Amino acid sequence: MPDDHGRFLAAGPRVGLRPFTLDDAGEFTARAEESVALHTPWLFPPRTPERYAAYAGALIEEPARAGFLACEREEGGRIAGFLTINNIVHGAFRSGALGYGAFAHAAGRGLMGEALGLLLGHAFGPMGLHRLEANIQPGNAPSRALVVRAGFRLEGFSPAMLLIDGAWRDHERWALTAPCG
Ligand SMILES: CC(C)(COP(=O)(O)OP(=O)(O)OC[C@H]1O[C@@H](n2cnc3c(N)ncnc32)[C@H](O)[C@@H]1OP(=O)(O)O)[C@@H](O)C(=O)NCCC(=O)NCCS
Repeated sequence: MPDDHGRFLAAGPRVGLRPFTLDDAGEFTARAEESVALHTPWLFPPRTPERYAAYAGALIEEPARAGFLACEREEGGRIAGFLTINNIVHGAFRSGALGYGAFAHAAGRGLMGEALGLLLGHAFGPMGLHRLEANIQPGNAPSRALVVRAGFRLEGFSPAMLLIDGAWRDHERWALTAPCG
């Protein structure tokens, strides 16, 4: 096992989670470029330095957002994928909306499942959230499978819920609440 725990907010056997930094632009955008076929038509992560700076900057600076890079511990920390929490609301709701994407070299290897488990521990632990929702387009079977394996429940269906790639898309609303508290 690599001696890399200090780098990560949370680590499992194969994956460590760390926050986005602006310095990750080169690796992130190169891996996003390699992953266009995997991500289309569901997700459009930044593929240029300018777009990365805006995207990561918002995740780093805005209190209602958080972003995490899932890194492969055995591969020198190369980025396997990313997970974001948007629309973070505190008070009586303590909720956030989850987003995620694998990079092509990492897809289908169980790394995102491990990363999501780590994120849930971090969100329901140090971040103090009580509920995470994942809004998923009906045809997105790998995304649905990921949240089902993590224990999310289907709460409903919302027509024309999110503007993605120029059109309002229907979404299934999946969610998970913290085990206690
Ligand atoms: C959604 C997405 C992140 C899921 O990633 P993923 O790579 O399928 O997820 P995992 O890393 O958990 O891999 C799961 C697969 O790896 C397999 N696997 C291989 N080795 C494994 C291991 N050691 N442990 C666990 N699972 C393993 C699982 O059996 C599973 O296969 P299955 O789908 O045939 O059941 C990915 O498909 C993606 O980036 N999609 C495009 C972007 C997107 O849709 N984002 C979400 C918008 S709502």
